[in-house]
Amino acid sequence: MEIHSVSFVKSSAHPRECPPMDKPEYAFIGRSNVGKSSLINMIVGRQSIAKISSTPGKTQLINHFEINEEKEPWYLTDLPGFGYAKVSKKDRIKWERTSRQFLEGRRNLMCIMMLVDSRQKPQKVDLEFMAYMGEEGLPFVIVFTKVDKLNKTERAEFQSAYTAEMMKQWYKMPPVFVTSSETKEGREELLNFFEQTNLLF
Ligand code: GTP
Ligand code: MG
Repeated sequence: MEIHSVSFVKSSAHPRECPPMDKPEYAFIGRSNVGKSSLINMIVGRQSIAKISSTPGKTQLINHFEINEEKEPWYLTDLPGFGYAKVSKKDRIKWERTSRQFLEGRRNLMCIMMLVDSRQKPQKVDLEFMAYMGEEGLPFVIVFTKVDKLNKTERAEFQSAYTAEMMKQWYKMPPVFVTSSETKEGREELLNFFEQTNLLF
């Protein structure tokens, strides 16, 4: 797939403000700072269409980007991060309600891209969130981020360690992508995935 252009559509505070559900859509979700916005920029090949920050919790709104290529246009969606310790309980509950409403009500959502930091051990919040998606029957894949930060040995080990933890809860692993926004590793694989999945819309 060759992306011709990408445009920012809008930021929405609530699912009902989101653009029409008329195109295939992929939502990027994961803990604050995991690299959601960076990965979107890497995929579309634009430095800073999605805002990146070293301060966790930067993305507070649902941000829609429209991708134009040779075939029909589709959406990439940057969702607010979760699991940031400094967020108040009230804001955390609000995040949960908004995200669930979005994920459960967005009928054009082809797949949820669940981002996980490849340098960290499986985190409870992540495993819980995947369990929730499983229970709701929401389709998702795991996208490991920041793999450029691992050395050879760590690279060989992290995926099997993660799989072992997942298998305590699941019968089978969801599809997995290994990525780096720094080196563009995983970009082709993701674009192929979007291209194939768009056909099912
Ligand atoms: P929130 O919007 O706060 O939820 O964060 P986010 O998930 O959108 O993360 P963001 O893309 O803003 O990246 C957070 C930090 O990680 C930034 O300092 C990025 O430069 C860094 N980062 C993101 N992806 C990578 C990567 O693939 N490799 C490396 N080395 N750093 C990365
Ligand atoms: Mg972000």
